[in-house]
Amino acid sequence: NKTGVIFDLDGVIVDTAKYHFLAWKNLADSLGFEFTEAHNELLKGVSRVRSLEILLDIGDATVSEEKKQEFLISKNEEYLKYITKMGADEILSGASELLDALDDLGIQYVLGSASKNAPLILKQVGLYNRFLGIVDGNSVNQAKPDPEVFLIGAKKLNLKPENCIVFEDAIAGVEAANRANMTSIGIGDKKTLSEADYNFNNLTEISADFIKDLIEKLEN
Ligand code: BG6
Ligand code: MG
Repeated sequence: NKTGVIFDLDGVIVDTAKYHFLAWKNLADSLGFEFTEAHNELLKGVSRVRSLEILLDIGDATVSEEKKQEFLISKNEEYLKYITKMGADEILSGASELLDALDDLGIQYVLGSASKNAPLILKQVGLYNRFLGIVDGNSVNQAKPDPEVFLIGAKKLNLKPENCIVFEDAIAGVEAANRANMTSIGIGDKKTLSEADYNFNNLTEISADFIKDLIEKLEN
């Protein structure tokens, strides 16, 4: 097949934003400032290091490099407490069905995530072995909105970027897909993800016919 798919993980396949929120909030609490769900929106799709910078900005906090490293470790330890309890019941609606539909159509897919915990999360929910390849926060030098993560994904698929379809829930991720010259599908609020080529509220709205038509369009 000439077309392939790249999936973001957090917010597309699993809802881990709530766990990131709890772990970051814990850090903000310890530093004595408020961190809200609205603030958490700003961290979606963004790397761990960048997330910490944004959080510290929100709290107007200046800390040493050494402290930052400490915070990154303690935040991740807290996050891992939640992640290691995850199971298949936390796969977002429509995700397994979409992977089944792609399998039926013979379309290959890889993961393109900013998270260094992506392999662990996929194993927790039992989806690890379904992906042809995994590109995660450990494999890139540049975080989204840089297109690097998706361009490596295209290489794993052995396809040209213009023949790749990306599913994303974050503004930074949609931008990365667009900059990679791929077809971007925004999952979530249409207004927030207005830069996407196509928009859906969630994966249950994606039919096999939509995928078939899109592939036909891309291949002709
Ligand atoms: C992205 C999330 O998928 O991964 C971000 O949307 C997160 O919120 C980033 O900061 C990095 O994740 P991790 O697991 O490496 O801290
Ligand atoms: Mg995401």
